[in-house]
Amino acid sequence: MYSLLNFRGHTDGRGVLFSLEEEKNIPFQIKRVYYLTDLQPNHPRGFHAHKNLEQVAICVSGSCVFTLDNGLSRISVELNSPGQGLHIKGLIWREMKDFSNGCVIMVLANEYYDESDYIRDYSEFKRLSAG
Ligand code: TYD
Repeated sequence: MYSLLNFRGHTDGRGVLFSLEEEKNIPFQIKRVYYLTDLQPNHPRGFHAHKNLEQVAICVSGSCVFTLDNGLSRISVELNSPGQGLHIKGLIWREMKDFSNGCVIMVLANEYYDESDYIRDYSEFKRLSAG
């Protein structure tokens, strides 16, 4: 349903630097980067699937929980390290919750924003995933 990517941090006395490169440690061509800030622990987000989109989500600061659903089962994954990327592709319903103070989520995607690629209705998602 997902895979976890591990990014090597370049650590020295000044801090840690992570580098993301398309078709190297990111497994696709990157057309879009967006990030979410000022997230509220009591305001979960997402609640959609994509017809055709590949993404890597990185919690670059703080922590959060992604719940993923392939229509048959549901799994929750905590992201709490800037060195970890959650790779999602295929027809997967996603929800994001339990944002820590200062949580920032950065998402890399292989397509431009396209509202027609979204499935925002869970029963439509269930219908599509069944068949
Ligand atoms: P939305 O998909 O509802 O966010 P989430 O899945 O985190 O709950 O997106 C919020 C708003 O931002 C919505 O008006 C669409 C817009 N948006 C863009 O304009 N470009 C983008 O790349 C994304 C992901 C969203």
